[in-house]
Amino acid sequence: MRTQPVLTVEHLTKTFPGQVALWDVSLEVQPGEVHGLVGENGSGKSTLIKCLSGFHAPDAGAEIRVGGRRLSNPHSAAAARAAGMAFIHQDLGLIPSLSVTENFALGRGYKTRLGHQIRWKEEARRTAALLDAFGYPTIQPAKLVRQLSQAERTIVAIARVFQEDGPPVRLLALDEASSALPEAEVQRLFSAVRAAAARGVGVIYVSHRLEEVFELTKTVTVLRDGRKIGSFATADLNQAELIELIIGRPLESYYPSIERPDEDRRVLLKVQHLTGVRVRDVSFEMRTGEIVGVTGLLGSGRSELARLLFGAQVPVSGTVELLGEPVRITRPGDAIARGIAFVPEDRRTAGSFRQLTVGENLTLLDIRRFFRWAILRRRRLRALASELIERFRIKPPDADRHFYTLSGGNQQKVVLAKWLHRQPTLGILDEPVNGVDVGARAEIYRLIKAAAEAGSGILLISSEFEDICHLCNRVAVMQRGRIVAELEGERLTAEHIIEFSYSDKASTNSDKGVVAQ
Ligand SMILES: Nc1ncnc2c1ncn2[C@@H]1O[C@H](COP(=O)(O)OP(=O)(O)OP(=O)(O)O)[C@@H](O)[C@H]1O
Ligand SMILES: [Mg+2]
Repeated sequence: MRTQPVLTVEHLTKTFPGQVALWDVSLEVQPGEVHGLVGENGSGKSTLIKCLSGFHAPDAGAEIRVGGRRLSNPHSAAAARAAGMAFIHQDLGLIPSLSVTENFALGRGYKTRLGHQIRWKEEARRTAALLDAFGYPTIQPAKLVRQLSQAERTIVAIARVFQEDGPPVRLLALDEASSALPEAEVQRLFSAVRAAAARGVGVIYVSHRLEEVFELTKTVTVLRDGRKIGSFATADLNQAELIELIIGRPLESYYPSIERPDEDRRVLLKVQHLTGVRVRDVSFEMRTGEIVGVTGLLGSGRSELARLLFGAQVPVSGTVELLGEPVRITRPGDAIARGIAFVPEDRRTAGSFRQLTVGENLTLLDIRRFFRWAILRRRRLRALASELIERFRIKPPDADRHFYTLSGGNQQKVVLAKWLHRQPTLGILDEPVNGVDVGARAEIYRLIKAAAEAGSGILLISSEFEDICHLCNRVAVMQRGRIVAELEGERLTAEHIIEFSYSDKASTNSDKGVVAQ
């Protein structure tokens, strides 16, 4: 006997002005099934999920059934929730100016204002209990979401969707929920997803990390340019086959080959005893043309190290030398003036201007160069924008689009392009391929490599353990604010990175200790 699908989507088309985001897509999700949804940046994954959640109205003719019951078209967010659908959106959908507890309450459909029937003390206690159950007792319910790191925000969004009251959840859709999480933390998300599936919930799981798709999903649906290529039993595919389905051609080489730069290259950066809030007594050196990886678990201090070097945070002590000269960088302006570029972790918000066009975002830093006798040479600026759009394969290739209408991964490419093309002396990239599809990811790695070959030093903060082993000359593993290992040559393997990320001689080795401090 066939069980009834938890979700049936038929003939789903969604057009935006001048753009078909989805074309006649049909899809079934069975109870207890984790269903992967994959495709390049801009292929329509988030649009599909937003059509389910009631955020976008599908074009006429679409039919969506949850547990056999048909939703009206369009349907509201409340109707989606009442039907038993729950979501983690790509942008997480949290309100930064509200506290963690308030965001939890919102997730259950409470109204924000007045707050008449909400018993906040109890709410805070429940929220704390949920975060504790997820293994993150260090996230305080009273904190504003704005004050949390990107990974912590993700965890709040995840814990929120798994809270128990409200209508029973039949379908859970996670849109790149793992993308801001270090690989080790992803396992916790996986156990929560598996537990939900074991209770009969159908799960739609969107990710650009294909190894996650293979590990977690039973079925996988591939979208390309808004069309469905097919739904497949995951076990019947191998990685190369899945990549070919996604990008429509085989991917010849994923990693660019590394050549070790000559030993006699100049020392570009010398950091000694650098100390901040979390970062403690960090010392290392890098040469021009080197790609140095910095990795570690959530809360290990990687992102703070980047902020300290860029002047976004002032060090408590320690010294930094750039090309042999002691420098004191206390503001980002100092860093930029010295040729240091920084692509932050939450680049979609911190690294861009949503309301400007793609072209404006790309060339913002170059505007000064293009002034001559107080006349802005617009044509040249436009030519630069078009060139970058082509080189970085930004889709759609249109400089006049508003930045916010781009898919998540394409927004990231815009911010990266803006920095990388200027050939920085030192480029600090915090999770540069987070949310970027396989094809574009290979492309970004090639561009990083090209920047290094042209003489830039690249400090690559990343949780993609496998990737950094291929890409970096050296990888520093951080733990609790310190560098606990520097790996290179044969010792540079993903297994070693994991081992050093976790090994903890100084204090307790409990799972929960990992995020502390
Ligand atoms: N509000 C909007 N206005 C116009 N076009 C939009 C809007 N939202 C999305 N699009 C377009 O719809 C297409 C699909 O975007 P979508 O965000 O669904 O892609 P995605 O598969 O989720 O990509 P990513 O992996 O980068 O997140 C893209 O071409 C995008 O530019
Ligand atoms: Mg998306």
